[in-house]
Amino acid sequence: MAHVGECTEHKYFLDVLNLFFETQWLYNTPVTDLLTKGLLDLFPKEWLNVLQTLENQELNDFVVTKKTNSQWPKSLKAFLEKCRHTDRLPNLNTILLTKLPKKFQIGLNDKKQHEISQLANLVHMQCAPRNIKIIVDFGAGLGYVCQLLYHLYGYRVLGLEKNHANVNNARTRQSKLYPDSLTHVKYNCCDLTYNSVETIETILRDEFQENSDVCLIGLHACGDLSIHASKIFRDMQAARIFVMISCCYHKLSISKSIKINASTEKQYFNNFPLSNCFNSVIVHNNFDVGSFLRQPFLRLACQEPAERWNNMSIESHNKHSFYVLARALLQLYATQNGFSLTKRTQKGTRKSQCLNFETYIKDSLNRYILQPQEEKNIKEQGIQVNVDEHEKNIIKLWKIYCDKLKVVELYTALQLILQASAESLVLQDRLCWMHEEGFEATIIPVTNKQLSPRSHAIVCCKR
Ligand SMILES: C[S@@+](CC[C@H](N)C(=O)[O-])C[C@H]1O[C@@H](n2cnc3c(N)ncnc32)[C@H](O)[C@@H]1O
Repeated sequence: MAHVGECTEHKYFLDVLNLFFETQWLYNTPVTDLLTKGLLDLFPKEWLNVLQTLENQELNDFVVTKKTNSQWPKSLKAFLEKCRHTDRLPNLNTILLTKLPKKFQIGLNDKKQHEISQLANLVHMQCAPRNIKIIVDFGAGLGYVCQLLYHLYGYRVLGLEKNHANVNNARTRQSKLYPDSLTHVKYNCCDLTYNSVETIETILRDEFQENSDVCLIGLHACGDLSIHASKIFRDMQAARIFVMISCCYHKLSISKSIKINASTEKQYFNNFPLSNCFNSVIVHNNFDVGSFLRQPFLRLACQEPAERWNNMSIESHNKHSFYVLARALLQLYATQNGFSLTKRTQKGTRKSQCLNFETYIKDSLNRYILQPQEEKNIKEQGIQVNVDEHEKNIIKLWKIYCDKLKVVELYTALQLILQASAESLVLQDRLCWMHEEGFEATIIPVTNKQLSPRSHAIVCCKR
């Protein structure tokens, strides 16, 4: 029961905190350390017993639907129930299949075409009824959605982007492909922070000789950018509508880190948790989020969604588990023998396409240097002498661990099941902040998750 003065989301935040506190073995360590840190040994035996019996399609369906079997262990059913209950992200049931004009297909894959047409449609649905004619795109990249918004609906669009090369590319594409848009779509170089309100107002006046109501948007605004955008929306009088699809949550800036041991640190972020409600639940329940809502959690939140396993073939599963386990084994060998693994510079991409460990390891020893930890400055040449020896030892070690392939795939399955709850927490926290600031805001599914995993927008309108 909520106490007087508690936010209505109090219970939700507490449930998610408990879920992620309990399931750290699944996400709080990078998978390269799967063997080094003995994570597979933490897999509850009774869970393994039932999950190992699933056929390929049953495993896919289990991950996508989170459906349980009444015969399964109580603890496994409880885990799945908590994941279902804490996934608050609505799914997109229908896909709007717009065929973009030819000049919008150049250089854009299906994913990008889907994203820009879906977002442009949503922005138009929000702006048209409120007679908003100007849009500001945060982190505009090469200006794909800016150009489409003008082409389809005639908006004036200001694309703001901090990377000079991107701004130049966007302008070059514009002159070449969309010359009729030159007076309506403008690109400016600008490193946006929550302090950028005046800068944006000045650019708008300069470019459009006007400072009327605007809509702020972002497509895959990474790290802190989407939080800066929210604060700009709050502080900028002319900003009426906000439509933001975020990405790369793990790039959020760290405010404080505390070393726990050689390989782990506590991490605290400037903009996560963001809302007062979530922060107060953390404080009142004595959670130290720096130890489990760290970058690995934020990586999980922006990992591929469970839907990617829809109809996944046995071959793809085998390939996936092989690469995860083989890489973890390389790490184990390095750690056990006092080496660190350093990527060689200017080595080509992976050549070993077949699931043959001997080929994999030869290829890996070409791409990585096993560097003795005490002799950091040793030359690559010196290490080369030992490569054959390493190869033999690593193959021996593989023989001990190669029967873990199925367990690795089940471990990934559980991670995928947790993903939606992690992303849900990040977005619900941001939504809650919007409500605390007095805005009406919702989370709207914009893209098809299988095609484009960061598929939700926070949409907000000022009254
Ligand atoms: C993932 S890309 C998305 C680009 C584009 N919106 C798209 O969907 O194709 C994110 C972009 O935001 C830009 N960006 C990141 N932080 C920024 C900031 N503080 N101010 C302006 N641009 C920023 C990056 O340079 C990058 O081009």
